[in-house]
Amino acid sequence: MSLSKDEYIKEIFSLKKEQDVIILAHNYQLPEIQDVADFIGDSLALSRKAEKTSAKTIIFCGVHFMAETASIICPDKNVLIPDLTAGCSLASSINPTELTYWKKDHPDAIVVSYVNTSAEIKALSDYCCTSSNAVKVVNSISPNNDILFLPDMFLGSYVAEVTKRKNMFIWPGECHVHAGIRAEDINKMMKQYRNAEFLVHPECSCTSSTMYHMAKGDLINEGHILSTEGMMQQAKNSSKSDFIVATETGILYRMQKENPTKNFIPIRKDAVCQYMKKITIDKVYNSLLNNVYQVKVPQSISRKARSAIDRMLSIG
Ligand code: 13P
Ligand code: SF4
Repeated sequence: MSLSKDEYIKEIFSLKKEQDVIILAHNYQLPEIQDVADFIGDSLALSRKAEKTSAKTIIFCGVHFMAETASIICPDKNVLIPDLTAGCSLASSINPTELTYWKKDHPDAIVVSYVNTSAEIKALSDYCCTSSNAVKVVNSISPNNDILFLPDMFLGSYVAEVTKRKNMFIWPGECHVHAGIRAEDINKMMKQYRNAEFLVHPECSCTSSTMYHMAKGDLINEGHILSTEGMMQQAKNSSKSDFIVATETGILYRMQKENPTKNFIPIRKDAVCQYMKKITIDKVYNSLLNNVYQVKVPQSISRKARSAIDRMLSIG
């Protein structure tokens, strides 16, 4: 059945009423997906919501590793993703064999994996972390322990800089969307928008130069390096009216909707994650209607991955 966007939205709301289901959506999802979601957030907030919901089925509108995380946290729930091919270039930048070899080279190191990793990688890790708690997680580990931080090199360098940690080894992975947000983009926007506040995701390749500008006092106004949910909070609480947003452009829809009197300017209009955009409204409808596509992590992997996630959740 092919319907218009509005018809799909109507059908989704009516199907939702009949089923014990919750729709979770990441901040980068398309506007119409955000509109049908019961909850929108960053990776950490979505994991927490998945853990707390009493709904039997979770339709996860995000990328595959996020649905896997929900399945690990809630093994008894029916976790569905509307498109199984919604991957993540960052999560794909390391595989279990590579991590196993890396661990052999550093047998005493503690492994900290960003949430943007497969369930197998989490199962080989000591701690999981997200962009909003990576600094906290690293700070909770004894300074005497070496750390293997993976897979994002920009987030890793940021965490090493903030924690002043010298014994952190960082995997050279990157997200193709955030790696494309460069120092030149920040420099250009700083000149163009003198009064704007800068909201920068730590996966961006401009993160170090933004920190440098902040330390030097070059940022005439404020700059903040934040997770997507941190950006949402900052946009709401700041007294500024103009914001330059350095992350995937999907977040601008929610920012504008929740702060109608403020202006949000994307640092690059082409900062679009094609994996996030694979989740379309017709596919969400199909998920609800046909109970597809289930994401289930095998118990042998899930149990080990769960320990890394639990250690993170206990830290905050
Ligand atoms: P957040 O956890 O900050 O939402 O980031 C997830 C992500 O995929 C960023 O590209
Ligand atoms: Fe992965 Fe980058 Fe897309 Fe986030 S924006 S889901 S890190 S590819």
